Amino acid sequence: VSKAEIDLSSIPLGESITIKWRGKPVFIRHRTEQEIQVSETTPMSELVDPQQDSERVQVPEWLIVVGVCTHLGCVPIKDAGDYGAYYCPCHGSHYDYSGRIRKGPAPLNLEVPKYNIDGNTVVIG
Ligand code: FES
Repeated sequence: VSKAEIDLSSIPLGESITIKWRGKPVFIRHRTEQEIQVSETTPMSELVDPQQDSERVQVPEWLIVVGVCTHLGCVPIKDAGDYGAYYCPCHGSHYDYSGRIRKGPAPLNLEVPKYNIDGNTVVIG
């Protein structure tokens, strides 16, 4: 199946779930006000792969990224690392609440898949 449909109303505030899409993990995080604020106000000068949060999310409450570390492809763990969001234990890459690489060997931000949010439903793909 090339598309995945998820009911967002089942994901509590502050939680990150993992779904499978085209054989890959995709993280869907229901961001809190604080997570949104810190993501939107991060100075570009602090980023390895500079991207505004607004370039990475369609709706501020929802971060949707491919859960594959851009270093060598391990699956990061959620709610971990120096930036609180995702941490790749293979070689120590830290990602923030926008899925951006902040520290460690990974060169790029977590990939944002093509998706569309309509009400409480997201279709990925
Ligand atoms: Fe994630 Fe190397 S694969 S840090």
